[in-house]
Amino acid sequence: MDGWQRFFLFSILWLIFAPVYPSSGSSKVAAAANNEPAGRRKLAAGNPGSISIDCGVVEDYFDENTGLLYKSDRDFISSGENHDAESGSTSLEAFVERQCKNLRSFPTGKKNCYTLRPEQGKNHNYFIRALFCYKNYDSKNQPPEFDMYIGVNKWITVKGLYPNGWDTYAIFHFSSTDIIHVCLVDTNFGVPFISALELHHVNDSIYRSKFGSLNVARRFQLSYPTGMNFRYKDDVFHRIWRTLRLTNSIWVNATPEIQPQEINDSYKLPIEVLRTTAQPKNDLDSLAYNNSFSCVQSCNFYVYFHFAEIVEIPRDQRRVFTVTLNDVTSEPISLEYLKPQTIILNTQEDIYFTIDQTSNSGLPPILNAFEIFEVVELPLSPTDQADVDAIMAIMQSYNINGDDLQGDPCVPKGLSWNGLNCIYDNNPPRIILLDLSSRKLTGEIAPSLSALKAIHSLDLSYNKLTGILPNFLSELLNLTFLDLSYNELTGPVPEFLAQLPNLNTLNLSGNKLTGSILQSLIEKFNNGTLQLRFERLLLSIILFSTFSSY
Ligand SMILES: *[C@@H]1O[C@H](CO)[C@@H](O)[C@H](O)[C@H]1NC(C)=O
Ligand SMILES: *[C@@H]1O[C@H](CO)[C@@H](O)[C@H](O)[C@H]1NC(C)=O
Ligand SMILES: *[C@@H]1O[C@H](CO)[C@@H](O)[C@H](O)[C@H]1NC(C)=O
Ligand SMILES: *[C@@H]1O[C@H](CO)[C@@H](O)[C@H](O)[C@H]1NC(C)=O
Ligand SMILES: *[C@@H]1O[C@H](CO)[C@@H](O)[C@H](O)[C@H]1NC(C)=O
Ligand SMILES: *[C@@H]1O[C@H](CO)[C@@H](O)[C@H](O)[C@H]1NC(C)=O
Repeated sequence: MDGWQRFFLFSILWLIFAPVYPSSGSSKVAAAANNEPAGRRKLAAGNPGSISIDCGVVEDYFDENTGLLYKSDRDFISSGENHDAESGSTSLEAFVERQCKNLRSFPTGKKNCYTLRPEQGKNHNYFIRALFCYKNYDSKNQPPEFDMYIGVNKWITVKGLYPNGWDTYAIFHFSSTDIIHVCLVDTNFGVPFISALELHHVNDSIYRSKFGSLNVARRFQLSYPTGMNFRYKDDVFHRIWRTLRLTNSIWVNATPEIQPQEINDSYKLPIEVLRTTAQPKNDLDSLAYNNSFSCVQSCNFYVYFHFAEIVEIPRDQRRVFTVTLNDVTSEPISLEYLKPQTIILNTQEDIYFTIDQTSNSGLPPILNAFEIFEVVELPLSPTDQADVDAIMAIMQSYNINGDDLQGDPCVPKGLSWNGLNCIYDNNPPRIILLDLSSRKLTGEIAPSLSALKAIHSLDLSYNKLTGILPNFLSELLNLTFLDLSYNELTGPVPEFLAQLPNLNTLNLSGNKLTGSILQSLIEKFNNGTLQLRFERLLLSIILFSTFSSY
């Protein structure tokens, strides 16, 4: 049959068969987007810049050991299950004891993500720490191994967890996005789990590298004779300092004892870490440290050496020393009383350093603390922000969530959401296909769909969508495939569908649309540019066959 015949017949048949449905009066507007849980905001305000989550607890609580408000997972992740950890025989430091009692595990889904929205937003530096206390909660006697991602990039593989103790992984991460996703990724070595997750804002001018984020490999305070580990409140940045005694070193105490207000140091070392310093047992020896690291990511290490002169030195004496890290020696360092200094050195190897007094120094070298970081490179960019905002608003309108829909929608490629495709060859990646068929969606076609500007293919078939075909779909200029079949859509077939320049497949079957199908659509169809499915059109074609044979 040629196009003219088909068009003619169709028009006639349309007039005969078009039933008139009462137009649905439903004007229920999709749930408002961005309704941040009110409780979260209010409580977070008590702890500016900090988010502390005790994973696996039901109720938020105030932890007396740290003075921190710990929140349940509720507002940060929708997947996973809560478990009590078996109480092991090992006694834990007071500052992790409570958080180790429960955990959240993720038996389903490849990528499960906590969504953190720090108040300071993007372009700030954050200290993020994850705590893991396995304690054989699953009776498998086998701590799992899995990957952690920060945003769209891999942070670290969690492995070698103590069966009955605690482990932490921590990183300084400068975020380019308002929302930070911390994701646990199943790598088929057991069920990922987490005991606590914290995020704290830190001064943007410290702990930064232009090569990426800084994963904490080691953090030692060399001085405290009682072997105590420190964290918040002793440390305003929430760093956990472990005690280390360098071989052949002794302790020197501050005389007179120093007070916190006397120290002005951007690294804000805990006052306890400053009050004692290590120096060689024999004045003429070096302070030395030697450790081999299996690097986990870039093999690009930064060592931060923290020094503080805490003894009032007689005027005629000087303390001058150098730091040699794997054969690279720093400039001579001399300290002023109560003015801490931090020296940062870079290396690509195992860490071997010595601190030696210079020939013109009358006093031995000292060291208060040091930290070793490995750069975590962040090569991947997240999905286009407008697309992310759109997809989040769509998920919220239709109340969709699931363990296959977490974190960044497109990135990394192998862990993108189910039901969507993206293009990666332009930066940032964009969403080009969205398939929300058979998701039990109700309500109208969500306006946020029109914000997915790069989309080629949209499938909303087999849902219970009501209302009309809204005009905002005309904004999706790159749309080639639109499947709205088997919903409860009403109203006329709109003119704009014929104007969508790239549309070549349109399926409107199984709805309650009224009015005649537009001539312009029929033309597009006849031109061979559009594959159109619409039950009455199919009807006409069948009738046409009958007609021809007649
Ligand atoms: C601390 O040092 C900064 C600059 O290093 C200075 O601006 C500030 O006034 C100092 N604060 C105090 C309390 O000495
Ligand atoms: C951040 O560090 C810089 C440089 O040390 C300092 O001037 C500034 O006051 C610090 N800001 C905060 C909020 O501590
Ligand atoms: C550091 O320790 C390793 C063994 O862990 C050893 O092979 C190496 O020689 C040591 N380096 C120095 C300079 O002592
Ligand atoms: C639509 O497609 C064209 C051609 O492929 C492309 O150049 C354009 O960037 C796309 N528009 C969007 C918003 O992605
Ligand atoms: C709607 O029609 C198009 C074009 O014929 C087809 O590709 C698609 O699978 C159909 N949708 C459903 C739900 O059958
Ligand atoms: C049909 O094709 C003709 C010529 O190729 C073109 O001018 C016209 O715009 C097309 N119509 C539609 C509805 O695509």
